[in-house]
Amino acid sequence: MHRMACVRLAYFSLLPLATTLGGVATTVQAQTMTAPQLVPRPAQMALGQGTFTLSKKSAVEALTPEEKSEAAFFAASIAPATGFAPAVDSRVGGRRADAINFRIDPASGLGDEGYHLQVTPHRVLVVAQKPAGLFYAGQTLRQLLPTAIFAPTVQKNVVWQMPVVSIEDKPRFAWRGLMLDSGRHFFPIPAVKRFIDLMAQQKLNIFHWHLTEDQGWRLEIKKYPKLTEVGSVRAESPGQGARNKGDGTPYRGFYTQAEARDVVAYAAQRHITVIPEIEMPGHASAAITAYPQLGNTDVPDYAPQVQTRWGVFPYTYAPKEETFAFLEDVLREVMAIFPSKIIHIGGDEAPKTQWDKSPFARDFMAKNGLKDSHELQSYFITRMEKFLNANGRQIIGWDEILEGGLAPNASVMSWRGESGAVAASNQNHPVVMASNGAYYLDYGQGRGANEPETIGGFVPLRRVYTFDPTAALAPEKVSFLRGVQGQLWAEYIADLPKLEYQAYPRACALAETGWSPAQGKDYADFRARLQTHVERLRAQGVNFRPLDVEGAPVGTWKSGEVGQEWVEKTWDISSSIAKAGTYDVTFQYTEGEHRLDISWAQLEQNGKVLARDEHTGLTGGATKDNVYHLVVPALTAGEKVLLRARVRADGGSDSNGEISVKSG
Ligand code: ACM
Repeated sequence: MHRMACVRLAYFSLLPLATTLGGVATTVQAQTMTAPQLVPRPAQMALGQGTFTLSKKSAVEALTPEEKSEAAFFAASIAPATGFAPAVDSRVGGRRADAINFRIDPASGLGDEGYHLQVTPHRVLVVAQKPAGLFYAGQTLRQLLPTAIFAPTVQKNVVWQMPVVSIEDKPRFAWRGLMLDSGRHFFPIPAVKRFIDLMAQQKLNIFHWHLTEDQGWRLEIKKYPKLTEVGSVRAESPGQGARNKGDGTPYRGFYTQAEARDVVAYAAQRHITVIPEIEMPGHASAAITAYPQLGNTDVPDYAPQVQTRWGVFPYTYAPKEETFAFLEDVLREVMAIFPSKIIHIGGDEAPKTQWDKSPFARDFMAKNGLKDSHELQSYFITRMEKFLNANGRQIIGWDEILEGGLAPNASVMSWRGESGAVAASNQNHPVVMASNGAYYLDYGQGRGANEPETIGGFVPLRRVYTFDPTAALAPEKVSFLRGVQGQLWAEYIADLPKLEYQAYPRACALAETGWSPAQGKDYADFRARLQTHVERLRAQGVNFRPLDVEGAPVGTWKSGEVGQEWVEKTWDISSSIAKAGTYDVTFQYTEGEHRLDISWAQLEQNGKVLARDEHTGLTGGATKDNVYHLVVPALTAGEKVLLRARVRADGGSDSNGEISVKSG
């Protein structure tokens, strides 16, 4: 593991325990076979020799209430699988053998979330500056143990060993998020908690909770009971298989304030901040159905309903004083539930059609010197920002809040690619990268016939991992990037198993981008560690998408290599085809603006065609028939085998992809 840096022992040499820290190697040898397979990859790790064994007799030592709280959480987290919870003991530096010491050292310089972890044969020492660091060290400790530690029931015949190792770790970004859309589908509290638990294991720290939608308002607001009495119920949902038809079944669900508070506390215990999203001025059909006077009542055919189909709807809030008062009341209750400094006000996909038609809205624009409905949106968001700022909170919104002028203190969540992040950072506003090109985890992740229905798109694991969230930003503006976030829009995610399938393992790739240093980022290395990490998910019954068999690609095509004209291209694939047999050659788009079209593929040796498959294949946004089935009756051993294919990139030359070969 070339990226294991020499561990810095200097810090520990200042501690009284230094004399007990025997056995830790200060240099790294080739120990890839036994190296801990941690996800996300820690900033620095050095493997030593020997092991620490956790047993019934082990204790977790902690002194202060904060240390004890983190120590107790860790002890409880290993109890289900081990059958014992180590006692939390306050004899810091005590005599007890096989102890794990949790210590907060305000002078350690490890930052808000960093930690230093040292495993020696009889002692584990964890130091952090803040409680969150101890928490993340606990997550790492769990990953150092056998993967069975993640099982919910007692595992017999497992020796709970971890390798002697030294880790110094801290996150690359402060914002490492996942967004859950509880609007399109309602996820019951146990599912939400499970989602949060899994986030914590990946060292994710922001749970963006999308609570209001056209298809359902999901949060109890005491002053406006109809929001949930009326707004949380839709008459039906898009039908299975026939999405333009209704299923005829009413759908409902909302979170009481007590439940939402419980989620906030549950998340806080896992050092996850819950950022609530209350959508405005669009995606507001459910609220407007509950209180029709809040909408643009003076437009033709005004008939709001809690929507029963997916999509974008014209129902926006009207810019009335009554509406602003309503939203302020709602946000007052939201602030009382959610202590997060940042509140998400939505802002996306608010059609301007009703405002452009509404005599009231037009008059409002004229009176307020707003030259168009985009400026009205900006007025709307800025006014709500002012209210939230006055209450000590900040706003974040989807990148449409840039249109018509950004509110003065707003952060921007860039979802329509990276352009929102570029524009906002150029205006010196904080940004979160949530691009649909890489971080929409509701998009498809595979091309097989067995893949479940999704909203569309194609964001395979490799894409999530390899996407560089800083790439589009001006170098001097990268400091405005607060971090990364994956989106789980729930039109086609109706339950927890599907949610987990969409989220995992891609959220692991996102988490590693958010946590691990950019330097040393390597997909093949991640993919190898993931092999172990999915066993952790499996042990706790996560319905993750199985990993594709990803042999190293035998060939690639890159941006600029193939244009719109049909060309024949060749790749030397001798290393994959050494004998007669049946081979499936797959052309897999990975990124770029343009798909690759293939009209045939063949294998050649010395200019002689060994096998050929002629059919039209596509790979990219519309992947279809991209596997070429080649039957090789005989070949000359030791001589070069060429793959030749006739290809073109559709619409331009920005296509990138990989070719893999499977013998069948
Ligand atoms: C969004 O996907 N409408 C933010």
